[in-house]
Amino acid sequence: MNLAGKHVVLTGAAGGIGSQLATLLSARGAQLSLVDINRDALNTLAQSLTMERCNVIVADLANPDECRYIIEAAHQHFGGIDVLLNSAGILTFNSFAATPPEQIEKLLAINLTAPALLIHHALPSMLQRGSGNIVNVGSTFGSIGFACFGAYSASKYGLRGLSEALRRELDGSGINVVYVAPRAVKTALNPQSVYAMGKATGMHMDEPEAVARRIIEALEAERRDVYLGWPEALFVRINALLPRLVDRALKKQSRSARQFSTGSESA
Ligand SMILES: NC(=O)c1ccc[n+]([C@@H]2O[C@H](COP(=O)([O-])OP(=O)(O)OC[C@H]3O[C@@H](n4cnc5c(N)ncnc54)[C@H](OP(=O)(O)O)[C@@H]3O)[C@@H](O)[C@H]2O)c1
Repeated sequence: MNLAGKHVVLTGAAGGIGSQLATLLSARGAQLSLVDINRDALNTLAQSLTMERCNVIVADLANPDECRYIIEAAHQHFGGIDVLLNSAGILTFNSFAATPPEQIEKLLAINLTAPALLIHHALPSMLQRGSGNIVNVGSTFGSIGFACFGAYSASKYGLRGLSEALRRELDGSGINVVYVAPRAVKTALNPQSVYAMGKATGMHMDEPEAVARRIIEALEAERRDVYLGWPEALFVRINALLPRLVDRALKKQSRSARQFSTGSESA
């Protein structure tokens, strides 16, 4: 698809990957409804882009009413939505037993319920127009459950399942569904403990700009599922076929995750 003049609703726009996505989309001449909870960062981002093509929507995706408001506000400003790009997300890195229940709920609300509700609210007008693109930013952990990322993995598995189901349901409707799964990226999403584990275990971490480029390429080419990084993309396939093999291969990493998530790595 050609993005020039297209109305893109982008969540998590002020974030590490989101701000790079906004910049690339703006350079392609898209009209942007930029959504984030961080008002200051969102305004700074909008000021760095072509202002007349930006609609700033400050909203909390953990609130279902605000998910409805986002789609209404986007429609009111630029009319029909051509692309809904769900990039907002949060992460917890902790043993599941030690993760406070309210954090689990909040993570699932932002990473899974919010994209589902945004899609739900955006779909009727996309179906009426017979066109639209939904892009869900997942994660390698949406295909490989990783120790101490239980809530995050669950949310991304859910997002991948939703993407697959919708793609099948919407076949022939003119609406395309893309699921892009980055591996680790150097952004503020990851707490210092993840960076420390990454350094100690040799984990690959990509630059947000490179990841954003791949997401835009996937959107423009109307791809289906895109897994970023090698060998992560291969492990995704092996895990689907031979999960016990991956259980064994990940034993050491699981131990590191348990240590780094509790800060006991030097003990
Ligand atoms: N970074 C990685 O390693 C990595 C790897 C694989 C996949 N991903 C996925 O890529 C996507 C983008 O991640 P990122 O690395 O760009 O993260 P990020 O830099 O933390 O950006 C996320 C953005 O979402 C915003 N946000 C958080 N809670 C919100 C809420 N309740 N309502 C509205 N906005 C909210 C954040 O605002 P605040 O900063 O104010 O909280 C931030 O601006 C996520 O879906 C993530 O799961 C990231």
